[in-house]
Amino acid sequence: MTKPAVRVAVTGAAGQICYSLLFRIANGDVYGKDQPVILQLLDLPQAQNAVKGVVMELEDCAFPLLAGVVITDDPKVAFKDVDAAFLVGARPRSKGMERADLLLANAEIFKVQGAALNAVAKRDVKVLVVGNPANTNAYITAKSAPDLPAGNITAMLRLDHNRALSQFAAKIGANSADIEKLAVWGNHSPTMFADYRFATVKGEPLPKLVNDEEWYRGTLIPTVGKRGAAIIEARGLSSAASAANAAVDHMRDWIHGTNGGWVSMGIASDGSYGIPEGIVFGFPAVCSNGSYEVVKGLEISEYAQSMLNITLKELLDERDGVSAIVG
Ligand code: NAD
Ligand code: LMR
Repeated sequence: MTKPAVRVAVTGAAGQICYSLLFRIANGDVYGKDQPVILQLLDLPQAQNAVKGVVMELEDCAFPLLAGVVITDDPKVAFKDVDAAFLVGARPRSKGMERADLLLANAEIFKVQGAALNAVAKRDVKVLVVGNPANTNAYITAKSAPDLPAGNITAMLRLDHNRALSQFAAKIGANSADIEKLAVWGNHSPTMFADYRFATVKGEPLPKLVNDEEWYRGTLIPTVGKRGAAIIEARGLSSAASAANAAVDHMRDWIHGTNGGWVSMGIASDGSYGIPEGIVFGFPAVCSNGSYEVVKGLEISEYAQSMLNITLKELLDERDGVSAIVG
């Protein structure tokens, strides 16, 4: 018997990331190959025609699991009764715009979208914020949706996690799938901290296999941190297919579980590791039965603490930058 369809909202539907993401969701890559989905697509009024074009292409794929599509410029229509929401659409940085202006422009968007989710989404909706600055946008969304559990509003650190996996795999000649217990902490920004201290490859400690702490600190960490900028430099556009892939990984694992494996997710802190409550911070997490748990009790070395302090400081500054809007 066919299952009832789940409703998945995706914002920024006319943009680059969605040009990959929507097709992956419709193909069953998030909810599974036996789960019909209804896509509820949000974009700005001036992008509605472009969204219609993308939907024509979705139709032309004849995806058996695509049970319906809604196109709208109204967040309350897009988020009505949704089981999951990918918040991808955001204001890009325009010429002459300072980081503070970008923060404020996005704060306004995510305040409205948080309020709309609060009003009309399913009470157990799973939200993934991709649009940058992703952690702080997730923080604003959560603050603007007081009736939803703050834990259900997450930010995307998975691209950083996947980038680090791939760099480590290349360094030691391993398959990225064999690297376990990697953690990416903090902000989705160049200050993120890719932490390999607990990671293993087929039971062997990754730091021992790498055997090059100088490369780890001096090359791996900055390479992962600046990867987004390197892609913009090379492509003239920001990462899109890899970002969509990371969004699929994040939501699929949250829904279906990780079998004890660690993933990195931007999660509203419960105070663990000294991160102030409510700050949306990248933590290692294990997913099962549709929920997740932060991996607790890890030892934080002096170097790790110094890296956590840097990325936390950036997030606290971002929080202060939007305090006029969030209150
Ligand atoms: P894009 O510019 O191609 O598309 C963005 C889309 O969002 C556009 O169609 C635009 O009209 C729409 N939009 C803008 N404001 C909106 C609003 N208020 N409501 C609904 N839609 C709105 O951008 P993209 O390449 O798809 O990237 C989207 C965002 O994802 C950017 O902020 C980018 O920096 C971010 N990103 C995050 C990660 C991550 O790892 N967290 C990785 C890559 C990109
Ligand atoms: C990325 O990491 O690729 C994105 O967040 C885009 C960017 O601005 O770095």
